[in-house]
Amino acid sequence: MDTNKLLEVQSVGKRFGGLAAVNNCSLFVEEGSVTGLIGPNGAGKTTLFNMVAGNFPPTSGQIFFDGEDVTGLKPFELFSRGVLRTFQIAHEFSQMTALENLMMVPAGQPGESLLTTWLSPGAVKSEEVAVRQKAEDVIDFLKLGHVRNELAGNLSGGQKKLLELGRTMMVEAKIVLLDEVAAGVNRTLLKDLAANIERMNSELGYTFFVIEHDMDLIERLCDPVIVMAQGEVIAKGHMEELRRNPEIVEAYFGAPVEVD
Ligand SMILES: Nc1ncnc2c1ncn2[C@@H]1O[C@H](COP(=O)(O)OP(=O)(O)O)[C@@H](O)[C@H]1O
Ligand SMILES: [Mg+2]
Repeated sequence: MDTNKLLEVQSVGKRFGGLAAVNNCSLFVEEGSVTGLIGPNGAGKTTLFNMVAGNFPPTSGQIFFDGEDVTGLKPFELFSRGVLRTFQIAHEFSQMTALENLMMVPAGQPGESLLTTWLSPGAVKSEEVAVRQKAEDVIDFLKLGHVRNELAGNLSGGQKKLLELGRTMMVEAKIVLLDEVAAGVNRTLLKDLAANIERMNSELGYTFFVIEHDMDLIERLCDPVIVMAQGEVIAKGHMEELRRNPEIVEAYFGAPVEVD
């Protein structure tokens, strides 16, 4: 397999009952790219992400990540290989500060293991210091320093999205899956969000796979863009080319776009 293909989906299908949500889809995401995924509601985009992130296995086909077959692996297994998808900030974290939210590092850290705590408490302490320092660095990178000690529940919708992005920086992510991260974010914060995605890509080498309804954001951030409709990949290219393709315009831009 071409080593540039960080993520490769081969003839993947997913049925719910008798209905195909994703039908024989093949696509790849090149390492270092910000690849877009667009298509009308119900096209199968989120279902595809769920399979890539391990939320459920495909009914057919295979998924490769970093050259290995990862079909059917669980979310935590994919997570430990560097596949991250963003989630809304969980409700239980609203009573923690922005900084503390970033410090909620997932399993796999020495501090998580009771055995390590018992055997070498010093390792846990230094791990905590390192995690706090990293969280501070991430907060600064995202230019959220002014709200570092604010409760996450008091942040604006856009600031929460930035924090969500920041959580992907706390671990060693190789690819970040963003599912409609811009929904409900005001224009100013949307620019911050886009700028941070660009910086994470260009300065830190993150690969992104982005589902988005906001076409301006897609055009600004993503190259290439993959188009899905009715469970299938129907096109891939630069956004500018896609806008001129009558088949795409018909399948997508022509149809009324509902934002869910
Ligand atoms: N858990 C599920 N059970 C049954 N049908 C589902 C489920 N998830 C998605 N679908 C169906 O699969 C199709 C694709 O949905 P989805 O992947 O959410 O599309 P998109 O994200 O492109 O809007 C839709 O027809 C949807 O109703
Ligand atoms: Mg969706």
